[in-house]
Amino acid sequence: MSDADKFLYVDRNVVNNPLAQADWASKKLVWVPSERLGFEAGSIKEEHGDECVVELADSGKKIRVNKDDIQKMNPPKFSKVEDMAELTCLNEASVLHNLKERYYSGLIYTYSGLFCVVINPYKNLPIYSEEIVDMYKGKKRHEMPPHIYAITDTAYRSMMQDREDQSILCTGESGAGKTENTKKVIQYLAHIASSHKTKKDQVITLYQGQGLHVLPANRKYGGSLFAAQRQPYVFL
Ligand SMILES: Nc1ncnc2c1ncn2[C@@H]1O[C@H](COP(=O)(O)OP(=O)(O)OP(=O)(O)O)[C@@H](O)[C@H]1O
Ligand SMILES: [Mg+2]
Repeated sequence: MSDADKFLYVDRNVVNNPLAQADWASKKLVWVPSERLGFEAGSIKEEHGDECVVELADSGKKIRVNKDDIQKMNPPKFSKVEDMAELTCLNEASVLHNLKERYYSGLIYTYSGLFCVVINPYKNLPIYSEEIVDMYKGKKRHEMPPHIYAITDTAYRSMMQDREDQSILCTGESGAGKTENTKKVIQYLAHIASSHKTKKDQVITLYQGQGLHVLPANRKYGGSLFAAQRQPYVFL
């Protein structure tokens, strides 16, 4: 794996481990709520009416849990899945676990259906170079690992094909990475729009503060890219 690949692709040799699959099947693994960790992995040992006795995987401690508080764990083949809409057991514990596992492996982007969840790495990753931009150019979303470039490429292609306005909404709490990712959207658009040979009369207009709109605009601006700030920043 190249340096950038490590921050984009999951190592499937680790994920498709038959021992992990057997372990999951034999131990009835589940998620139980934990004050310290959010959720903890455990295996169901006994079942009595509405309650279960669960042995916590890390400490070996046995606890009684109401069945309603237990969330099913996905089989190991779903470990670090790129699109969480594919999870067999779609629950809060599994979603948080998947995001955490991916983040700890350096994978900051994860799809959840149409959405792309991003977790701030607080360090510079080698996944925004021109080579990576070229890798994403014109590719279908599921042909490539999750990335803000894939989202941007989809918006750009839809705009060109359907001749319709497209929007990308970056939302999250302060410091989540909205501005950084918006910059990557602009970088990607600038790159692909400037290399788009057949459509010289297209211009991309970016309205900040109302979300980020990518519009085909009129001929007088040529093939340039400009940003128009209509309102003070709201999302960025
Ligand atoms: N993808 C990334 N790669 C590297 N660093 C990042 C990334 N995303 C965010 N950061 C770091 O986190 C900091 C905060 O991110 P950013 O400014 O994008 O947050 P924000 O969501 O726009 O916050 P606010 O709502 O306060 O404007 C950045 O200055 C940068 O240091
Ligand atoms: Mg910001």
